[in-house]
Amino acid sequence: MNSDIFMPSQLTWATGALAGGPLIRKTTRLADLPGIFADGEAWKCGNPQKSVYDVDVLGSPVGEGALFVGVTHLRAGNVGDEFFMTRGHFHQRREQGEVYFGLRGCGLLLLQTEAGDARLEQVTAGSVHIIPPFTAHRLINTGNETLSSLAVWPSIAGHDYAALAEGFTLRIFASGEGYEVRHG
Ligand code: PA5
Ligand code: NI
Repeated sequence: MNSDIFMPSQLTWATGALAGGPLIRKTTRLADLPGIFADGEAWKCGNPQKSVYDVDVLGSPVGEGALFVGVTHLRAGNVGDEFFMTRGHFHQRREQGEVYFGLRGCGLLLLQTEAGDARLEQVTAGSVHIIPPFTAHRLINTGNETLSSLAVWPSIAGHDYAALAEGFTLRIFASGEGYEVRHG
């Protein structure tokens, strides 16, 4: 009896470590982020091999109705005074939303509509972020430890980075012990 009970993958909530299943890791380094940070000279002076963030995605079925689960680990750091952040994207299928959950560290989730209206949500351990359809999203690490965030999204959503070639309308810079939000 019960011999066919399956042990699922495991998430360690405090660290965001995923285990117990096929895992696909993508590392994004400073060299992979040209044109993303405001200070291009500071970006050129940085170590191109520096890992800015890792995304671990559980290998799972793809298709209409299927969901992906992944964890982003965004390192603490700056380019000039601007905090490390993810590239940011719209979904290729714009009508598809996503949910982020803060696991550790502290930062911001930048959300932006196609009309360019932007807003920020505070990301902390336990925060829940519902990313609506038609909304671009980017994580920013404003703290001094790794920011880890769990995401669940439809496998059909896809990533559209090109639509944000002009960048987001808000940028976040270190200021004293905290941060400053600048427009443009
Ligand atoms: O699906 C998501 O929104 C996340 O898993 C992101 O892909 C992840 O945070 C990395 O960001 P980006 O895809 O913008 O490089
Ligand atoms: Ni997304």
